[in-house]
Formats: sequence, C-alpha cells, structure tokens
Amino acid sequence: MGSERHATVAGLGSILPDRVVSNEWFESFIDTSDEWIRDRTGIRERHFAVEGETTSDLATEAARRALDTAGIAPEQVDLVVCATLTGDTPIPSTAVWMQRKLEITAPAFDVNAACAGFSYAMSTATAYIESGQAETVLVAGAEILSRVMNFEDRTTCVLFGDGAGAVVLRRSQEPGVLGSVLGADGRAAEILIIPGGGSARPPTHEAVDEKSHTIHMPNGREVFKRAVVEMANACRQLLEKSGYTPEDVDLLIPHQANARIMIAVAERLKIPQERAVVDVESVGNTSAASIPVALDRAWRAGRIRTGDLVLLTSFGAGLAWGANLIRWTGPDAP
Ligand code: ACO
Repeated sequence: MGSERHATVAGLGSILPDRVVSNEWFESFIDTSDEWIRDRTGIRERHFAVEGETTSDLATEAARRALDTAGIAPEQVDLVVCATLTGDTPIPSTAVWMQRKLEITAPAFDVNAACAGFSYAMSTATAYIESGQAETVLVAGAEILSRVMNFEDRTTCVLFGDGAGAVVLRRSQEPGVLGSVLGADGRAAEILIIPGGGSARPPTHEAVDEKSHTIHMPNGREVFKRAVVEMANACRQLLEKSGYTPEDVDLLIPHQANARIMIAVAERLKIPQERAVVDVESVGNTSAASIPVALDRAWRAGRIRTGDLVLLTSFGAGLAWGANLIRWTGPDAP
C-alpha cells in the first residue's frame, strides 16, 4: 500500500524583469560577439532587473501568479521555500521577504544549492508534505544574477540573466511528484564559486575592489562536462528507482544553462530533442530560477498535458545536482 500523502503541482507562475539586454550590448565593452555567444551557449538575450528591484520582488510576483493558477489564497500556504543564491539580504531569508509581501504567516526558509537549488527545494517541499508537516507549500526559484556578475569577465558575464518562477505543491491522494535524486561533490567547489562576501572572505573594500563577490568560473569546460554527466546520471537513477525508462518521459526540462549542455543531456538519455525544453535563447541562465521559469513557459505554451511524465534536472556550483520526476495531474494550461 502506498502512502496516502503525496505532493502534486497545483499551480505555477514565472516572471522575467522588463529590461531586455541583447548580446550586442556586451560588444560595446568586452571583446565578444553575438555570434560567439549564440554559437557556444544558444543565448541571444536575457533580462536584467532594474535598480531597486529585488529578488523577493520577482519571487513574490511569480508566487502570486502560481497561487492564481492554483486558485489558492496566500493564507492557505503553510510553508514557503525559496531557492536562491542572490537573496535580498544574508538575513532574513528571501522566503521571509516573500512571506511578508504576500501577507502570510507560514514558516519560511531559503535553500542554496546554486543552480541546483530548485531540485533541492522541490525535494524538501515534497518531503514536508509526504511526512504530514505541510499541506500547501510555495516553492520558488529566484535570482538577480546581474548583481553578482563581473562585467569585465567575458567568460561569465554573457551567460546569466535574472528571473523567478514558483510552483504551489499541494497534498494529494494521487502521486504528482514521484521522486527526487540529489547529489553533490564538494571536491570541485572552486570551479564555480563566488569566493567573497561570506565569512571566509568578508566584504572589505579590498575584497570588493577585487570583485571577489562575483561569479568565478576558472574552468568552464570542466563545468560543461560535469553538467552533462551528472544531469544524465541523476535522470537515469531517478527513472530507474521510479520504475520508468527515458522512453516514458514526455518532457525533459534541464537547467537552462546552455543549449549545448541540454542537447547533450537529452542525447545521452536518448530522449528526442522535441521532448526536451531548450528555452535559454531569450532568458539566459537564471540559476535556481531556470527550471521553474522553463516549466511555466512550457506549460503556458501548451507543451504539458494532464498525465504527462515530466522530468526536471539541474546542475550547478557545489558541485551540486538533482532531478525530480512529476506525473502531471494538472492544472491544464491557460
Ligand atoms: N566571447 C568571445 N570569446 C570568449 C568568450 C566570450 N564571451 N568567453 C570565452 N571566450 C574565448 C576564450 O577566452 C577562449 O579563447 P582562447 O582560445 O583564445 O583562450 C575561447 O573563447 C574558447 O574558450 P572555452 O572556454 O574553451 O570555450 P567553450 O567552448 O568551452 O565555451 C563556455 C565556454 C560557454 C563558458 C562553456 O565552457 C560552457 O558553457 N561551460 C558551462 C558553463 C556554464 O554554463 N556555467 C554556468 C553556471 S553552471 C551551470 O549553470 C551549469
């Protein structure tokens, strides 16, 4: 007999900031080109937050949209989890800022697993529901990466964008989230890191002048290779333990880092490209926000139907990675 407590997706929403930044914009101050960026990453443009806009502003708007599609009032939420590496403030958490803006009083906390944050947040929220500690959980992934980028470093600054996505997970009789797999490998921590701004390297004038509070990626090729291997392995493990094969997957939604990484993951899994969401062209890499944003955009485009098997997978700094398998029980696309 299976547990009666399952978690299912009851609603979803996302937002990208209004300001659109094209590849050509970067050509004016670094040695790069639209052609190079498109060829190597698949990115054409990304959205940057405007001054004064915060990560919790974006997360709150995505959450409002998710609650709307679920037909659930904010006061029914009994837990808020936000995946982010660019929270408004070190304390309190971004989930708490969201909670305040939504005028709810549920417990709230952040999850930081870098670009893999949404996989970890979904797994955590599902465990809360399955263990009976929560009924309705707001799970957000939100980033303003443009505030932690070094605009003199062409190997990183062209890759990222800002945005937020959210899902409402709700207790259900029928299983929606079928399972998750998470992984991490701290031995490779330095290949993708923001070295400053924390207690190891506090934000002194010198540390800020050296831009230690920005994203450093000294070996992009290694990140690329590990991303492909770990996402494909996580997907295989999760499908196997859930009793499925890659052929059963209706839609694969990988972390939207780079089109070439996503295509390679789909190829390794032998999932045809038309069943993989590659939506990085006008969004860029939005780290923990990338999966909920891509999920929401795919759903609104009518690519997800009731009964579909949807596989989410992520990879990022840590290194950390994960996958979540969802049987879509609704809602139907608007
Ligand atoms: N414009 C023009 N040239 C550039 C740029 C740029 N923006 N960035 C790097 N180059 C140059 C390099 O300096 C290098 O020049 P050189 O040969 O004279 O030394 C050349 O392009 C090739 O550089 P590589 O790093 O070997 O290029 P590669 O094909 O590996 O592409 C990239 C680089 C896109 C960063 C790739 O390694 C990658 O996608 N890695 C994954 C990184 C990633 O997505 N990180 C995001 C965070 S983690 C995540 O979300 C999964």
